[in-house]
Amino acid sequence: MSALLVQDLHKSYGGIVALDGAQFAIEGPGIYGLIGPNGAGKTTLFDAIAGTVVPDSGRVVLGGRDVTGWSSHRMAAAGISRTFQECRVLLEETCLDNVLFAAQPKTLGASLAQVLTRASGHRRRCHDEAMRLLSLVRLQDYAHSPAAQLSFGQRRLLEIVSTFISSPQVFLLDEPASGVNPSLLEVLADFIRIMYAERPRVFLLVEHNMEFVMSLAQDIIVMHQGRVLERGSPAQVQASDKVVEAYLG
Ligand SMILES: Nc1ncnc2c1ncn2[C@@H]1O[C@H](COP(=O)(O)OP(=O)(O)OP(=O)(O)O)[C@@H](O)[C@H]1O
Ligand SMILES: [Mg+2]
Repeated sequence: MSALLVQDLHKSYGGIVALDGAQFAIEGPGIYGLIGPNGAGKTTLFDAIAGTVVPDSGRVVLGGRDVTGWSSHRMAAAGISRTFQECRVLLEETCLDNVLFAAQPKTLGASLAQVLTRASGHRRRCHDEAMRLLSLVRLQDYAHSPAAQLSFGQRRLLEIVSTFISSPQVFLLDEPASGVNPSLLEVLADFIRIMYAERPRVFLLVEHNMEFVMSLAQDIIVMHQGRVLERGSPAQVQASDKVVEAYLG
């Protein structure tokens, strides 16, 4: 049984075909890369897996269970956690509260979760782990500052860290390295390695930074025009004529 299976996914927006038969199976834990040119359908695929978008046809199967078309709350409860390409943090909340907020069950709804984030029991339970995660990406000194004070790249790190306060089965990271200061890229790569060592689940990274993703992932899925063009080790996909022509060339 695959940990995550996407089967013949289709999704169109009016006349624009975003997914055109995308399919692959992820058999078990690992760090996987999902690459491909702009508009290849990578984010739409994440949206379909995470329940943000309902595919027109095809199936998403998580741990043997068909979860196609489930809402994002249900997907989160079923074990899918994701970051967004455009980066979503609560700007007026402190960095620590952003992480504590992410530790709340997604089924609560945003306003109740925000109130409960301030409850002392929850804060006590999650405080040390939240601070540890913030420290791993060098954000500990900003723990009590509003996220609005962070640079764009630091906000992305905060969003990524927040994803790891819970322990889902599948982590979907949409362009984690984008906008991150080059001096922090190694910190981010190490953070992802540490998280994987601590919780060896399915990590799927969409990334345009080839050096970053190829150094982390041992299995790379290449998308082009809404479907999978190639799959293999970093060396295999870099040597693929199809991939070079569609993307890397
Ligand atoms: N909500 C939407 N409405 C209309 N078109 C959309 C929508 N979302 C995606 N698309 C289109 O679907 C196609 C795939 O987009 P998607 O964002 O999935 O690509 P991507 O591989 O993530 O690209 P990038 O690397 O630029 O982030 C593109 O042509 C895009 O313009
Ligand atoms: Mg995208």
